[in-house]
Amino acid sequence: MTEGAQTNAGLPAELAVAGARPLRGRMRVPGDKSISHRAVLFAALASGASRLSGLADGGDVAASRAAVEALGVKVRESTRPSGEPVLVVRGGGFEGLAEPEGVIDCGNSGTSIRLLAGILAGRPFHTVLTGDSSILRRPMARVADPLRLMGARIDGRDGGRLAPLSIRGGGLVGMRHELAVASAQVKTALVLAGLQAAGATEVTEPALSRDHTERLLPTMGATLVAIPGGVRVEPVAGGGLSAVDLAVPGDPSAAAFFVVAACVTPGSDLVVEDVCLNPTRIGFLDVLRRMGADVEVVVKEERGGEPVGDIRAAAGPLRATTMAGAEIPSVIDEIPALAVAAAFAAGTTEVADAAELRVKESDRIGTIAQELSQLGITVETRPDGLAITGGRPRAALLKSHGDHRIAMAAAIAANACDGPSTVRGWRAVASSYPGFAADLASVTE
Ligand code: S3P
Repeated sequence: MTEGAQTNAGLPAELAVAGARPLRGRMRVPGDKSISHRAVLFAALASGASRLSGLADGGDVAASRAAVEALGVKVRESTRPSGEPVLVVRGGGFEGLAEPEGVIDCGNSGTSIRLLAGILAGRPFHTVLTGDSSILRRPMARVADPLRLMGARIDGRDGGRLAPLSIRGGGLVGMRHELAVASAQVKTALVLAGLQAAGATEVTEPALSRDHTERLLPTMGATLVAIPGGVRVEPVAGGGLSAVDLAVPGDPSAAAFFVVAACVTPGSDLVVEDVCLNPTRIGFLDVLRRMGADVEVVVKEERGGEPVGDIRAAAGPLRATTMAGAEIPSVIDEIPALAVAAAFAAGTTEVADAAELRVKESDRIGTIAQELSQLGITVETRPDGLAITGGRPRAALLKSHGDHRIAMAAAIAANACDGPSTVRGWRAVASSYPGFAADLASVTE
């Protein structure tokens, strides 16, 4: 693999992919992005110094870090006695947060803007949250509406439905929310507001979304109780949240690209080490097993309330499958990678009940279909999903559409094709995985 023209962000504007390079050996991926956001944001609400290592190194988690600094929280880089880099976040409790001087820019990060909305809904000052052109298109009513019902004053564009969001918080009252769509971002925002509300707050969802908040917050002293279909949170008691020492495990959503790459590139046999194996995140392994893939998982330990271990994947023939219903939240971020598996599988893979894909960093139903079509694959799009008829994808000129996961999906598809391909808009990977190309090179050379 070679790199194209450099941009001022230090990443190439285009990635050149040689093709037909098996993935072999052992590798690690960056820390889990969902856990990293929560670790930084929850640490900012705790009293005392939290120590966080293995954090995701992309722009999204950097946006959460910059946001808490703008709210007056002291953050510094240090090292553990082992020499491992650690971020020290010195929170002063919820009351320690202060009105920011300027607008808080969440960049490309939906998790930052929605979780911050939940925190700031409880703070008695004014904040404006904004982001890049993708964030300005993504739905915010799903988080703003229930926070308004709890008593926060939130305004925004398009009748308050779009960012920039203007928030003046405080005076929240706990209540029950029944989410129409499973969303860990909305669930977490409402839990964070609930910690600051008078009385208990309950959140239910139609299917279980990722539960990192439910796992991490109780280790910091919060009272969260499982209820049918959801969670109840009690207001945070006098002492507030306690600081935490956390080593974040590898991101299964990042690992998924390499696991699929190994499954579809002949001659591959790869181990991805130290990955978060939370059941709400590894639906992609069940899907791959149904497709006949040669994948194995070994759970090695529990860390910060999360199972952690290794995933081994080897190349072999794949057959089509269906993804729908309650399984969708557990594979939602992996559908771009799984679509690549479908492109190499025998038969037609169907994805249904996944309209959420339309409001991710790009409209992923449209962008997946466009890029697989470039590879010569037949794709039918539907309002809530896709039908992908596998075949023999051929090398092509591909595009990221400004979406990190589409960029990485394009790269692994290209890596499995014969002959050279190009992925344009490569810089999009900076949101979650700036070192993706280097890591792919390290297991393909
Ligand atoms: C995330 C939740 C999911 C996921 C996103 C990260 C989180 O979004 O797609 O990448 O960290 O809570 P939704 O809550 O919108 O489903």
